[in-house]
Amino acid sequence: MSPSPFDAVADTYDRTFTDTTVGRYQRAVVTDILLKRFLPGMHVLEVGCGTGADTECLARLGVKVTATDPSSRMISVAHDRLSRAGLRDRVQLTVATAEEVLDDEGHQYDGLLSNFGALNCLESSEIIGKLTGKLLKPGAVGVVCMLGRWCAWEIVFHLGTLRFREAFRRIKSDSVDVALGALSIQVIYPSSHDIARVCKSSCNHIQTTGVGVLIPPSYLNSLVERFPTIFRIAQSVDTKINRLPVLRNLGDHYCLELQRR
Ligand SMILES: C[S@@+](CC[C@H](N)C(=O)[O-])C[C@H]1O[C@@H](n2cnc3c(N)ncnc32)[C@H](O)[C@@H]1O
Repeated sequence: MSPSPFDAVADTYDRTFTDTTVGRYQRAVVTDILLKRFLPGMHVLEVGCGTGADTECLARLGVKVTATDPSSRMISVAHDRLSRAGLRDRVQLTVATAEEVLDDEGHQYDGLLSNFGALNCLESSEIIGKLTGKLLKPGAVGVVCMLGRWCAWEIVFHLGTLRFREAFRRIKSDSVDVALGALSIQVIYPSSHDIARVCKSSCNHIQTTGVGVLIPPSYLNSLVERFPTIFRIAQSVDTKINRLPVLRNLGDHYCLELQRR
């Protein structure tokens, strides 16, 4: 297996995203959904688990998790996290891309999770339809959280600083070069409608939730720390409006719940 560009950021990922104010808020929105959908005793497949923050949360709940990620360094950080938490025996960790999981796995799961844009790193969103179609049991739910296509905060912030190309960088029909540490990766930005469409032949779309509609992306975390009261108010409004049509698609991320027929 060739090294992943995410290896280089694995050791700093929690500090620069998971443990920031924005990262904590965004994850809490998705965690609320996970706690409703995944129950103790279920076996859930996690694709692109990164440093294992959600893996730990599910394992604590009593869910059995098969967690995969193409970055061996991310898997190693997740391994350490789960060992420290005494949860290693509830989780199987595997180094694999989503495409490899799709080709290799024969098992059908009680749930599927992919959080915070792991599936934006695919060549095509069609693979998401194949994953949910092949790997979920009938009735099982897939929770897929993707980087949004129309991030209102990003558009307004970059327009305000006259960086027009940056403002609209996600709204492209093909993949976009995105810097990752000293490297760059190809990222696709399908809309929530695109994801519902590619999953349509096997799954019903239950709900889309905007993740951080009124809260800026994590690269603007310093702004949130500078104006904590404003952002506390924004957070409490955000949780009330993040399922409304149109608004739910304007966040840094959106989270789709899909049920296998
Ligand atoms: C932004 S991180 C999200 C990690 C984790 N899900 C979380 O909630 O923090 C994106 C992850 O996607 C993984 N990834 C990149 N390409 C992938 C692919 N083709 N299939 C599955 N995961 C991939 C990366 O290694 C990285 O760990």
